[in-house]
Order: sequence, then C-alpha cells, then structure tokens
Amino acid sequence: MPRAIISPSVLASDFGHLNAECKRMIKNGAEWLHMDVMDGHFVPNITMGAPILSCVSKGVPGIFMDCHMMVAHPERWVNDIADAGGSLYCFHLEATSEPLLLIDAIHERNMKAGVAISPDTPSTAITDEVADAADMLLVMTVYPGRGGQRFLDRCVPKVSELRARFPHKDIEVDGGVGPKTIGPCADAGSNVIVAGTAIFGAEKPEEVIALLKSTVETAQAKAAGRS
Ligand code: DX5
Ligand code: ZN
Repeated sequence: MPRAIISPSVLASDFGHLNAECKRMIKNGAEWLHMDVMDGHFVPNITMGAPILSCVSKGVPGIFMDCHMMVAHPERWVNDIADAGGSLYCFHLEATSEPLLLIDAIHERNMKAGVAISPDTPSTAITDEVADAADMLLVMTVYPGRGGQRFLDRCVPKVSELRARFPHKDIEVDGGVGPKTIGPCADAGSNVIVAGTAIFGAEKPEEVIALLKSTVETAQAKAAGRS
C-alpha cells in the first residue's frame, strides 16, 4: 500500500503570505502542498501560475509542490511548471487527447505525473496504459474550480474501483475532504489527501493533518488484514 500523504490546498490559505502559509503547513505535518492552478478556461476561475510557484519554491526550500493543473491545453505548461520547481504535474484527463505523450513530457522534466478525473468522468476513462505510466491518479470529489464546496459521496466508488485495479498507485482525493468526510475516502483506498478549508480553517491544523493521516493508516491496516 502506498503511504499516507497529506497535501493541504493553498487555495484556502492567505495568498498574501503564501510562503509563510506553506512553511506553517510543513511545520504542522504536511508532506506535500497542493497548488491549484486555474486558467479561466478549463475552469472559470483564475488563481496562480508558474511565476508564483517559482517564488514559493525559492522561498520554501525543499517544498514538494503537488501542482493540480486545472487548465486547458495542459501540454503548454509543463516546461514552465518544471522550471518553477513543480514536483508533481497533475493534469485533467478531460483536457487532453494525448495523455500518454503528456505523461512522457512531464517525466522528461523530472516531475511526477498525475492524472485527474472530474466528477462526471468515469474511472474507466483511465486506461490501464495511462494509469501504469502515471505516478498518481486524482479523483475529484467536487467539480474543479472553487474551494469550500460540499463533498460529493457519489465520487467515492471511483476510488474503490481504481484501488482494486491499481493496488500500488498513489490515489489522491480532492474537494470537500476533512474530518467529516475522510472516512469513506480512506476506506475506499485513497492515500493522498487534499484538504483546503478543513486544514487552513482549523484552529489547530496539526490536529486535522494528524487525524486525516491516521484515518488513512488505520483503513490501510484494516484492508491489509483482510487480504
Ligand atoms: C477545487 C480544488 C481543490 C480545493 C480543495 O477546484 O481543486 O483543491 O481547493 O479545497 P476544499 O478542501 O476547501 O474543498
Ligand atoms: Zn485541487
């Protein structure tokens, strides 16, 4: 089983103090930082791009930037994000017709490659070939575009389906995840947990991060006991 990783989404942070916010999360136990890149095309919102990520990687040495690319034409930004210090480049399957070529281009630039699916995309849209080439699969549990939305339970079965097909792959969930909704995500087999509002909005983020992580680890131990 791949290990539990918590990736706070900076979309819920104070962007005016982005580097300090990232450092604060690392101090509180976060291993990755989830950077939501939105381009105003794939989704209506615009957030940040490579220039900002570059400042973060310089200001927070050693940071693992889990870049969630909610962009049209994701092939366009691979070099810029790599130059900015991106660690993982996760594109939406809905935004490209050449996922395998894109994964190769991402690996060429020494980043991990992630493949995301929006709520209306079935898990079967991720072929075995694409999943085998990718390092991580992301099952969105809200429609991409905004933080603070309600968790969509109906996306959880896709996590179970993908976990059954790919027992060793990193599987991330993103959107409306927090202490109240982590249970089904962990039981379904996700091991990389994104949470924005639930972590940044908490009085004690370290407790939320620890709880999310231990819930995944407990579910993994239970699943291992069954097999
Ligand atoms: C939604 C983003 C998510 C979002 C998560 O488009 O991809 O990463 O910021 O935030 P919460 O946890 O607040 O739903
Ligand atoms: Zn995201």
